[in-house]
Amino acid sequence: MARPEIAWLPGDGIGAEVLPAARLVLDAAGFQADYLPGDIGWAFWRKEGTPLPDRTIELLRSTDCAFLGAVTSKPDPDARSELPERLRAKGARYSSAVLRIRRMFDLYTCLRPCKSFPGNPGNMSEGIDITILRENTEGMYSGAEWDKIPQELYNIRGMERVPRQAAITIRAVTRKASHRIAKAAFWRAGKGPRRVDAPGGGRPGTGDGRRLVTAVHKANVMRATDGVFLAATREVALEHPEVGYEEMLIDACAMQLVRDPRRFDIIVTTNLFGDILSDLCAQLVGGMGFAPSANIGEKYAMFEPSHGSAPDIAGQGVANPVAAILSAGMMLDWLGEKERAAALERAVAEVIQEGRVRTPDMGGTMGTMAMATAIAAKLRKGT
Ligand code: IPM
Ligand code: MG
Repeated sequence: MARPEIAWLPGDGIGAEVLPAARLVLDAAGFQADYLPGDIGWAFWRKEGTPLPDRTIELLRSTDCAFLGAVTSKPDPDARSELPERLRAKGARYSSAVLRIRRMFDLYTCLRPCKSFPGNPGNMSEGIDITILRENTEGMYSGAEWDKIPQELYNIRGMERVPRQAAITIRAVTRKASHRIAKAAFWRAGKGPRRVDAPGGGRPGTGDGRRLVTAVHKANVMRATDGVFLAATREVALEHPEVGYEEMLIDACAMQLVRDPRRFDIIVTTNLFGDILSDLCAQLVGGMGFAPSANIGEKYAMFEPSHGSAPDIAGQGVANPVAAILSAGMMLDWLGEKERAAALERAVAEVIQEGRVRTPDMGGTMGTMAMATAIAAKLRKGT
């Protein structure tokens, strides 16, 4: 790829603070790109009645990938109450910018690695290395919702179980989307290094060195939707005997993740389950400050820390930038800059291990840019 063009979207709150930190590190890695700033977030909702103006969508269309800080989103009456009368009268409705981008660009894989970097005081245990692949375009995020069920729907068999006056959200699961996220999971498992189980029974996995994919579902209750998801996942599993495969109910998985996180390797699941499990896994390895993410489609990708805009700490320069910096590493990897990506991760690991720079979430007192500067310095030294 020639010099890549990156849509650079700071957004709200700490999003705008962690992006300069990520940029410092990208520069220190010697990565050359054009960063094209774009408007996104709460300020644009309030001024223009949309958090994602058309000009930003155009910017995304014309770039190789996007890097996003964070976007505030609030539930409905609160969102509308912040609009000027002029826009409220037009009936502007808030819809999440991130979700729109994921759907519009068909960024169907939400990739969320959670690794316990040695020496991180927030680790629940050392040796955790879990990657979540979350289906990113459908499921409970279908966007088909009604505050009041349309009368016509009551003509359908089965609807007698749904109380009148209920609000509903449609959980849409297709074979196509399930199959492609499963393929992404097995492809990732197949291409990775064989597992070496840690001494002392560290990561049991399949016990024979194969990588392990865990499909997480609730097919005993949501038989139709998770039935489709599991059927597609099994089909892909059969094509990959080199990878271990298991299925786990979402509730049991939440418990097992807390009980024995090192037994997990790759988790593949539907949209909302992935949303929830990825926050759970983040906390296993120090919290949201250590949780990067990538939204990847066939042609485009958007990278973002998994955390939100964190209004409680915004403006203080104390947000942990590691999640954003690791997301930048995922961007390098996606752009084919494998060595720079690996060097970036090594630099993060070293700074965490040394323990001289600690942000408040790690029990320290140092700020966003101090952390980024330390990581950038390691990279410049060529770790
Ligand atoms: C995430 C976030 C988003 C999601 C919100 C902000 C819409 O929680 O990226 O995990 O639910 O996907
Ligand atoms: Mg989330």
